[in-house]
Amino acid sequence: MSTAAVQVRDLAKFYGDAAVFRNVSLEVAAGEFVAIVGESGVGKSTLLNCLAGLDHWDQGSVAVEGADLGTMDDDRRALLRREKIGFVFQAFHVLPHLDVAQNVGLPLLLLGRPDAARVREMLQAVGLEDLGLRLPQQLSGGQLQRVAIARALVHAPRLLLADEPTGNLDPGTAARVMDVLIGQARRHGAALVLVTHSEAAAARADRVLHLRGDGIA
Ligand SMILES: Nc1ncnc2c1ncn2[C@@H]1O[C@H](COP(=O)(O)OP(=O)(O)O)[C@@H](O)[C@H]1O
Ligand SMILES: [Mg+2]
Repeated sequence: MSTAAVQVRDLAKFYGDAAVFRNVSLEVAAGEFVAIVGESGVGKSTLLNCLAGLDHWDQGSVAVEGADLGTMDDDRRALLRREKIGFVFQAFHVLPHLDVAQNVGLPLLLLGRPDAARVREMLQAVGLEDLGLRLPQQLSGGQLQRVAIARALVHAPRLLLADEPTGNLDPGTAARVMDVLIGQARRHGAALVLVTHSEAAAARADRVLHLRGDGIA
């Protein structure tokens, strides 16, 4: 039996007495593509941040490739995140003072494995091979998100998390960026958990899960 890319059991998250969500259980197999949909404010970003170990939860457990995030200290959790997870955010989160190639190479640098050839390969994979020396301010939104996709996959993580990655893009650009995201996740054999409002993108997933305050199905 192969280990799940991520397994969530009975997760609950509260702010004070108010639950954002509870009873959230899900399992994403290695290489699987799962879309998560749900109304605004229902906790999709919070859930994705919990999957990445970027946010705390109040009940339940999250395990990435069998490793329980809740029982690790912060250093070990940060290391696991660097090795096994890539994250693409709606607002790109590309670092403004680094050029495109430096942004893409950052995860490898943080892992102590800088690799210029791998960075070039990823820039080519997302169609940015000629823009490695540009600064982010010289790029369009679609190009910025392709930088973020290349950065999220450069270290070949087993789990790629994407939170409304095309939410800030016009429809035509969004469709092309979504193609790159899904295509590259598949090519890398990474499990993909995609929070999206795009029905077209959700239709391409192996499974679609609907998040509500009292569970996910
Ligand atoms: N620091 C906070 N304090 C209180 N409530 C919060 C805080 N951060 C987020 N929330 C609430 O958590 C809920 C889930 O937010 P979020 O995960 O961003 O939802 P979604 O991504 O589905 O739109 C929202 O109702 C939001 O108001
Ligand atoms: Mg959100």
